[in-house]
Amino acid sequence: MSPEEPALLITEEAIRRRVAEMARTISSDYADVDDLLLVGILRGCFIFLADLSRQLAIPRSIDFMAVSSYGRSTTSTGAVRLIMDLRTEIAGKHVLIVDDIVDTGYTLQYLMEALKPRMPASLKTCVFLRKRENFRMDWEIDYVGFDIPDLWVVGYGLDYADRHRTLPYIGAVKAG
Ligand code: IMP
Ligand code: MG
Repeated sequence: MSPEEPALLITEEAIRRRVAEMARTISSDYADVDDLLLVGILRGCFIFLADLSRQLAIPRSIDFMAVSSYGRSTTSTGAVRLIMDLRTEIAGKHVLIVDDIVDTGYTLQYLMEALKPRMPASLKTCVFLRKRENFRMDWEIDYVGFDIPDLWVVGYGLDYADRHRTLPYIGAVKAG
């Protein structure tokens, strides 16, 4: 294995199975909702959101936001900046924020604070991966694919300095 190649953490097959399970849970939880708005957080969410949204058995719409926090470093500064806002009005709508990974939780906390004042009917969070031991918030993520250790992970939409996003599996890289 080249030193550049990420070490396998979650296989394609395990990802496929877990995303299908998450889609079933979310479809059942929102069974009575006419239109669930999935808000993907660019860029990391794009593959997870594509897979998850196509397996939902309920009416749904999709919009995106983009934020920036880490720059090229792998340590959270806690400073989140909004790069792109929603195009959709969310007052009275059921909103589910979908992100690739939650680490400290600062990014999702920022997004929740940005969206709550717009008066959605409900506002929940869904992430594919969670670094449980790093999470610093006093609230819980509503839907989590996998809990992982404190490693820098790539693939399935996640990058390290913009590399490895399209790897089909989740791998860990050495990062500083
Ligand atoms: P938080 O604000 O500390 O929760 O960080 C969340 C954001 O940091 C995610 O949306 C990712 O963009 C990025 N991030 C955190 N850990 C990783 C990782 O291991 N790989 C790739 N991106 C990560
Ligand atoms: Mg992200």
